[in-house]
Parts: sequence; C-alpha cells; structure tokens
Amino acid sequence: METDKGVIFDLDGVIVDTAKFHFLAWRKLANDLGFDFTQEQNEQLKGVSRVESLKKILEWGELELSKTEFKRQMALKNENYLSYVAKMDKREILPGVQKIIDYLIINNVPFALGSASKNARTILKKISLLEKFDAIVDGTDVSKAKPDPEVFLIAAGKLRVKPENSIVFEDSVAGIQAAKNAQMLSIGIGDPKTLGEADYVFPDFTKIDLDFIKKVLTK
Ligand code: BG6
Ligand code: MG
Repeated sequence: METDKGVIFDLDGVIVDTAKFHFLAWRKLANDLGFDFTQEQNEQLKGVSRVESLKKILEWGELELSKTEFKRQMALKNENYLSYVAKMDKREILPGVQKIIDYLIINNVPFALGSASKNARTILKKISLLEKFDAIVDGTDVSKAKPDPEVFLIAAGKLRVKPENSIVFEDSVAGIQAAKNAQMLSIGIGDPKTLGEADYVFPDFTKIDLDFIKKVLTK
C-alpha cells in the first residue's frame, strides 16, 4: 500500500482495558479518604496524568493534602493499580486490536504508542507488544498532559510522519482534544455521546474493518 501516513495508539482503554483498573484503584483511594465519585466523573480522569487525576479527585472530595501525603497517596494508588497489571497477559489485548496491528505491519505503515501512562512499557511487555511498536512515547517522555498535543506530536516526529498525516486512536475526551490540537485525524473508541468531538467513533475495534483502515490510510 502506498501511504505516507502513520498511526498512533493510546494505550489505556484502547489496546487494553486498564481504564477499569485505574477506576478501581482511584475509587479505593477516594473511599479510603472517606468519599466516592461516579463513573461519569471518572470519564474526566481518562487520558489525564496521575498527578492531575489526583488533583481532580481531591477537588471532588473537597480535600486538601500536604505535599508528602499527596505523594504517598499517588504511590499507594499506583501500587494498587500495578497489582491488577501484574495479572495481565496477552489475552488482555482488546478484541480486534491485533488484527489492525498485523495489517499495519504487513503494509509497512509505521505506528507508535502515545500514552500518558508511566506504566506503559510495563504493560506492553506484559501483553507481548513492546517490540512491535516503531516508537513509544509515554508519561515519562512528556511534560504537558493531554489535551495538550505534545505526546502525539513527539510520536509523529519519531515516526517521521507529518501531524496532518497521523491517525490517532483514543478512548478519552482529553485524548481526542489532544489529537485535534495536533491537527491529526482522531478515531474515538467508546461512546459517541462522550467522544462526539472525534472524526470517527467506534464502540470497539471489532467494529472497525480493514477497508475502513485502508480508506483512512490512503485518502
Ligand atoms: C492514562 C489513563 O492513559 O494514563 C489515565 O487514561 C492515567 O487514567 C494516566 O491516570 C497515567 O497513568 P499512570 O499509569 O502513569 O498512572
Ligand atoms: Mg486511554
């Protein structure tokens, strides 16, 4: 296939359903601190860095923590989150994802990871996908959180693909906005009511056929 395009995948909620583990771990933290938050509020945490997530949650609980306690709570959350990650293996790759990755490889289309997570490499290793990506940009590489386009712009740069030739798969509102801010084509994975700003939205990867991928790669 003749294309000068590249693909960027978010990780949590796109390649694997770790979004549910983040939710469980944040919820436990909130409950331990004496309050709760809803699934709707949780949408605002998707794609958002660990620090920013904790700031939002504490606002919801109307709590303020000292610097030391804030750090301790972040570490506890991550420890709890990693206890779920520890049980992961390649069966956790969401249905339909592998088929698209294989298609990109066969057609020599470069693809990268663009994730806010500092645990991205650990997770990719657990699901045996670490070596497949042409580039990995994660929470350890960026200084500005989504919706800032930084993570996707660095990823496109590493793939040597122009931003306007990049296609982003995202499950979060902040991530779709980041793709838009980077002038990239955005494909939302999830609920169209939540991800209405995306250029396309699919409930999951099983609903995306290879003709669609070919179309966006060649137009
Ligand atoms: C994003 C998730 O991918 O990574 C967020 O959608 C998460 O929920 C963020 O807070 C940071 O992840 P981590 O693994 O560094 O805590
Ligand atoms: Mg995500």
